[in-house]
Amino acid sequence: MYILAIESSCDDTSAAVLRDGILLSNVTASQAVHEAYGGVVPELASRAHQQNIVPVVDQAIKRAGITKADLNAVAFTRGPGLMGSLLVGVSFAKGFARSLGIPMVDVNHLQGHVLAHFIRESEDDHDQPEFPYLCLLVSGGNSQIVKVNSYKDMEIIGQTIDDAAGEAIDKCSKVMGLGYPGGPIIDRLARQGNPDAYQFSKPNIPGYDYSFSGLKTSFLYNLRDWLKDDPDFIEHHKEDLAASLEKTIVDILMKKLRQAVKDTGINQVAVAGGVSANNGLRNAFKDHAKRYGWKIFIPKFSYTTDNAAMIGITGYFKYLDKDFASIDLPAYARV
Ligand code: KG4
Repeated sequence: MYILAIESSCDDTSAAVLRDGILLSNVTASQAVHEAYGGVVPELASRAHQQNIVPVVDQAIKRAGITKADLNAVAFTRGPGLMGSLLVGVSFAKGFARSLGIPMVDVNHLQGHVLAHFIRESEDDHDQPEFPYLCLLVSGGNSQIVKVNSYKDMEIIGQTIDDAAGEAIDKCSKVMGLGYPGGPIIDRLARQGNPDAYQFSKPNIPGYDYSFSGLKTSFLYNLRDWLKDDPDFIEHHKEDLAASLEKTIVDILMKKLRQAVKDTGINQVAVAGGVSANNGLRNAFKDHAKRYGWKIFIPKFSYTTDNAAMIGITGYFKYLDKDFASIDLPAYARV
């Protein structure tokens, strides 16, 4: 059974092909056009998707070693995301599936991130979580702790009440004039800095919820004071600033996660989403595995940021349940 998956929720155009749930190809075209603006420009994103979608799908099918006539279904990201971006992938998927006379499966982008741990590159790949497991989903738009009871049954037990972790990193990076997206830049600088050089505020909110807006403000105000004394403060201390910021964010994320593991008694713990590419966070997971006996699941770098492979595996599970999408199903920007 061959499934083609399409992801276009933000600024990556991606297509993947799976055979019986095993990944055969995963092709992604990223959009450099947004770098000059310090963030994703929705209108430019949808135009770039329009340019990229045909060659990306073509490449994914070719690299899988099949032709489009072999396909049995098309899975696509229905939302959440940028509406103009989603419309390109959703419309393409509908037209493609209709022209081939095969069913479509709609996928929730966040569910895709959480199920990225089930992407298998070969028959021998059996390192998948068992249900239930906890997943820390951290991206530019979300910071959540999800209790995953089955492929279909997921419960958000904690989430950010304001900014997402990735958003906080990107904004602090922008304040430092470091470019966009800030995550990979902060990650690289942090490796050369002292994580205990500076202290930034940590939120104190109940339950498993997160908050990152206070940290962002504290970072900004501290920086403003330091710049008064030394106009080149950022240039002189950017490694230490990045390392301290990263440590603060990782500490905030892991504290709530530890509490959730303790309270639920679930010790299989996964991380997903763009921020899961962060080395500090990955190391914290490894450290917790050693210290607390967690069984951890960290995705390959290529499955941390937006990709069609995760849409494909989620679509595959829905296909097995015959959970198909109708042709008039609209995209949605928000859950
Ligand atoms: O999941 P994702 O690709 O997109 C959505 O949010 O939809 O996540 C993007 C976020 C951005 O905020 C980016 O700065 C962050 O993930 N990110 C990182 C790293 N790579 C990407 N944050 C920290 N360290 C990284 N290495």
